[in-house]
Amino acid sequence: MTDTVQTSGSTLTSVQTSEQTSEQAKTAPQAKLRLDYQAPLFAIDEVDLVFDLQPTATTVVSELKVRRLGDETTLVLDGEQLSLVELQLDGVELEAKQFHATSNKLTIFNLPSEGTLRVVTKLNPLANTALEGLYLSAGTFCTQCEAEGFRRITYFLDRPDVLSVYRTTVIADKASYPYLLANGNAIAREDLGQRHKVIWHDPFPKPCYLFALVAGDFDVLRDTFVTRDHRTVALELFVDKGNLPKADYAMGALKRAMKWDEERFNLVYDLDIYMIVAVDFFNMGAMENKGLNIFNSKYVLANDKTATDQDFLNVESVIGHEYFHNWTGNRITCRDWFQLSLKEGLTVFRDQEFSADLGMRSVNRIQDARIIRTHQFDEDSSPMAHPIRPDRVVEMNNFYTVTVYNKGAEVIRMLHTLLGEEGFQRGMAMYVERHDGQAVTCEDFVCAMEDANQVDLSQFRLWYSQAGTPHVYVEEHYDAEKQCFTLDVTQSLPATTGQNHKLPMHIPLRVEFVNKAGQPKQLNDEQGHAVTLLELRKARQQFVFHGVNEPVIAGLLADFSAPIRVEVQRNEQQLLALIAGGRDPFLRWDAVQTFYLQTLKNAVALLQTDPQLEHQALQVPSALIQLLQQELERTNTDQALLALLLQIPNEEALSQEYDCIPVEAIATAVASLRNQLAVALQAPLLKVIAQARNEIQSLDSEAIAERMLVNTCMALLAQLSDNDQVNVRLQSQFASDNMTLKFGALQAAVHAAHPYAKTFLDEFAQHWAQDVLVMDKWLAVQATSPQLESVTEIANLTGSKYFNWQNPNRIYALLAAFTHNLAALHHASGEGYQLIVGAIRRLNTTNPQVASRLLSPLLKWRKLPTKQQVLLKKELISLSRLDNLAPDLYEKVNQTLTEN
Ligand code: TRP
Ligand code: ZN
Repeated sequence: MTDTVQTSGSTLTSVQTSEQTSEQAKTAPQAKLRLDYQAPLFAIDEVDLVFDLQPTATTVVSELKVRRLGDETTLVLDGEQLSLVELQLDGVELEAKQFHATSNKLTIFNLPSEGTLRVVTKLNPLANTALEGLYLSAGTFCTQCEAEGFRRITYFLDRPDVLSVYRTTVIADKASYPYLLANGNAIAREDLGQRHKVIWHDPFPKPCYLFALVAGDFDVLRDTFVTRDHRTVALELFVDKGNLPKADYAMGALKRAMKWDEERFNLVYDLDIYMIVAVDFFNMGAMENKGLNIFNSKYVLANDKTATDQDFLNVESVIGHEYFHNWTGNRITCRDWFQLSLKEGLTVFRDQEFSADLGMRSVNRIQDARIIRTHQFDEDSSPMAHPIRPDRVVEMNNFYTVTVYNKGAEVIRMLHTLLGEEGFQRGMAMYVERHDGQAVTCEDFVCAMEDANQVDLSQFRLWYSQAGTPHVYVEEHYDAEKQCFTLDVTQSLPATTGQNHKLPMHIPLRVEFVNKAGQPKQLNDEQGHAVTLLELRKARQQFVFHGVNEPVIAGLLADFSAPIRVEVQRNEQQLLALIAGGRDPFLRWDAVQTFYLQTLKNAVALLQTDPQLEHQALQVPSALIQLLQQELERTNTDQALLALLLQIPNEEALSQEYDCIPVEAIATAVASLRNQLAVALQAPLLKVIAQARNEIQSLDSEAIAERMLVNTCMALLAQLSDNDQVNVRLQSQFASDNMTLKFGALQAAVHAAHPYAKTFLDEFAQHWAQDVLVMDKWLAVQATSPQLESVTEIANLTGSKYFNWQNPNRIYALLAAFTHNLAALHHASGEGYQLIVGAIRRLNTTNPQVASRLLSPLLKWRKLPTKQQVLLKKELISLSRLDNLAPDLYEKVNQTLTEN
């Protein structure tokens, strides 16, 4: 404890922080290219940070042990909006000619081969609304450094391949900030009267994006975990005062994650302490800072009064995700940000497997496939399309995408499919053994998988470099005479921004077969083994099966074995056979979806020729109704899968089927299908609800499945507002003490414009006005309603006391949710565009990261009807002309307007 802290009075007055000239500010932000990577010229072996925390004037003293790695003697440190107070090298103040400082860069000339730099900066955390760097979240000091936020705290080599050992001293007022936290272990504490100080030391070298600091007042939930090698790890969960009753579930999830990672991946926690802090103001879900995770409170706080089953599952998966990063991300990190999927794709795969092992594997698989199909395929067909390992980036925050994360996880999953669990784990073991403590590339990961399994993954690597969704066309032929069944398979990959010519991919296609009567049928290869996996490698490929004694139908893409679109002609009989005889839950679900989609597309086609037809345009095939009736009446069905079967594609999913999106026809068709199913199935739907056992407290899979089913049935039934039985059920469900059921009833009523909707909304708001996370659901349910009368309703909600422009959760709940309401966003009045672009303008200066997330759904303007195109393009052009347009927004707007 030798450090004294310089709290005020800069010792160096000659330092000038020159702001960018207005000329510079107008130059377009520069893109960085993956292939331009160069290794760092300096190492920073040790970092000693001292924070003197004050809401509007925090001083950061940073001492860096810098070492030259080559001949270069000029060190350039990154900064952002910083003001330099003091600069010394080896205890001696630098003279003006020895350095150059701007708010965004600190250049130091003639550095010796080794030395200690002392850099003092001053920050205003209270004014930090971007929530990157050091900021105040409702009075709590906290940090967010990924991807490039550390440079907002101090000048540094802000890149993930510079690894250092950190020592962090935190000094703050004792009364307001009784808890002072940073990475690693607390090694000293000192009482300073009004203030106090704690020193932390993290023994594991880490990149600066994993740095974290928190100071505030909390209730703490404490527990322990005993590792496989008998070490006791202290677990500490910090929540706002009064929130302890909502913390137990997250703690349980953490312990389950720690155990699971030991058992399934052979990975054991390393430090003696693991801390999680829940904060209310956070741009994303959570952050895996070493030993000190910082979470959006939305992914921590949950009890059955306030959280739905989906909320609980999300908490479990995000807690798992951040914990799993300790190995896949922290111990082994990324060389550069183009490699983001190295840690994110792999960690999403790991959290998906965690959730699947502990819960409902097939339900999760279907939900994951749904995310890829609606959101990732959408990104692939947008001007921002990028491979899971991007080649060109302007603003890194724009690449925390469903492509890098979720398609990245699918790529890892395909490796798992090709290598099997054992082979995959062999590869993981080799990856960890080779690269522990290093900053590496996606290529290093693939090499480990290759070397551990003696396989050639050269063609598979295209998944890392080629953007876009592969299309696979399949034709089936049966030759009765030769008893021969043939699959002709063609693959193609559409051009995407910057990539016109593509090569055929290596695609694992899981298959199963049924006969015409809907019975499972095994086809064998030459060696007599059942065929379950086809490996596609060529543009055109033929698979021939001999000894097939009757015509069969192929179930293609079982388990959603690749993030691709499969196109094959299917008639009603074939779909029914697949649904009856399919063993893979994804395949059965997918066949029902195809049935729905065909029905909807037929209606859309009719509506396009004659909009007057309205609901008469849609004819639900009687076979589909019969099928659903049978499923509803089967007593031994999996209730969760039944619920998924009864969920029809929404407007956004249907829009994926069109190059030019017929907005109004889609809305009409989906509404008709929903309504006609409710009418046709009302008796069995009511029966399901009547038979529910309503074990409202239990969170086991069966209870969750039952609630899923009840809510799905109620969502259909609520459209029949003159059915008394429905109304009685709806009332009593809304009165439930269980949030899943209560919210299910609210959503059913609002989305069906049921006469109870208004009362339910009012009662709900009255009861939950004090709980912002619950009120987020109330905002979202209105923003996503297909019955939304006018955009003004949503615009008005931005003025309500439940909304707050400073808090990302409120913005996501209301405005981001609204951007996924296809008909409302793209309403021909253009009011949806005005609302969202207005919000983006407002957030451009306060929180560009959040603004940029609202912009993505608007990038597909070229796919809209002319009227909408004109209105939206006008808004986008006006946005592009904004002074001080943030790089996040510049990158997207520019891409979409210049695309051809
Ligand atoms: N690494 C975090 C995760 O995967 C993501 C994250 C959290 C993030 N906060 C961020 C990324 C802010 C960019 C900016 O869980
Ligand atoms: Zn992550």
